[in-house]
Amino acid sequence: MAKIGSMGIRACLFDAYGTLFDVHSAVGQYIDLLGRDAAKISELWRNRQLEYTWLRSLMHKHADFWQVTQDALDFALDSYGIDDKELRQKLLDAYLRLDCYPEVAQTLKDLKDRDVGLAILSNGSPMMLKAAVENAGLKDHFDAILSVEEAGVFKVDPRTYQLGVDYFNVSAAELCFLSSNAWDVAGAATFGLNVVWVNRFGQKPERLPGEPVSEIKTLKELPLLLSN
Ligand code: LAC
Repeated sequence: MAKIGSMGIRACLFDAYGTLFDVHSAVGQYIDLLGRDAAKISELWRNRQLEYTWLRSLMHKHADFWQVTQDALDFALDSYGIDDKELRQKLLDAYLRLDCYPEVAQTLKDLKDRDVGLAILSNGSPMMLKAAVENAGLKDHFDAILSVEEAGVFKVDPRTYQLGVDYFNVSAAELCFLSSNAWDVAGAATFGLNVVWVNRFGQKPERLPGEPVSEIKTLKELPLLLSN
C-alpha cells in the first residue's frame, strides 16, 4: 500500500449506511404505498435503528444490525398505525439493495489506482453488507468488508474501529475514516483515526469529543484531498 498525501494515509475505511448508501432509498421506492408520511417514517426508522445500536451496546444486549433494523422498522410502522406484513417485507428487501451515492464507484476506482487500501467498516451485518455491495456493483473495489459483528458491539465502541487497524496492520494515524454520520465521526476521531466528515446534508457539528481532520460534501473530493 502506498502512502498518499502529507497525512501519509495507507488505507481508507468507509462507513456504509448514509456514507456509501442512501438509507432513505428503501422507503423512497414505496412512497406510493406509504403516502405523505413516507419521509417521516424513513427518518424515524433510521433514528430508532441508530438509537437501538447505542442502547443495546450500553445494555450489553447485542443483536446484529439486521435484527435492529427490523425492530426499528416495526417501531416506525407501528407509530404511524401501519400493520402490513407485505409492505414490511418489501421495505426490508429494499434495505438490502439501497442506492449507492452517484460518485462512490468512481471515487473508489481513483483511490484503488493509487494503491490505497479500501475497506468498509460498518455496523451492518455481513449478510446486509454483502447484499448492498453486490447490488451496487462495488464488490471488486474493496479489499475487505469489515462488520462490527466481529467485535460483537456497535459503533462507537473503540473495539469496532480497532477492526480497521487490525485488518490493515497499520497504525490508526495511517488510516482515513470516512463517514457522513457526525456521531460516527466523533467516535472514530476519539479512537485516533484521521476522520474526514462527508457532510452530505450540511449538518451542524455534534457537541461531542473528537474532531474531523477535514470536511467534504461528497466523496468526489476525497482523492484530491488525500493527494495534498
Ligand atoms: C454504519 C451505519 C451506522 O454503516 O451508518 O455503520
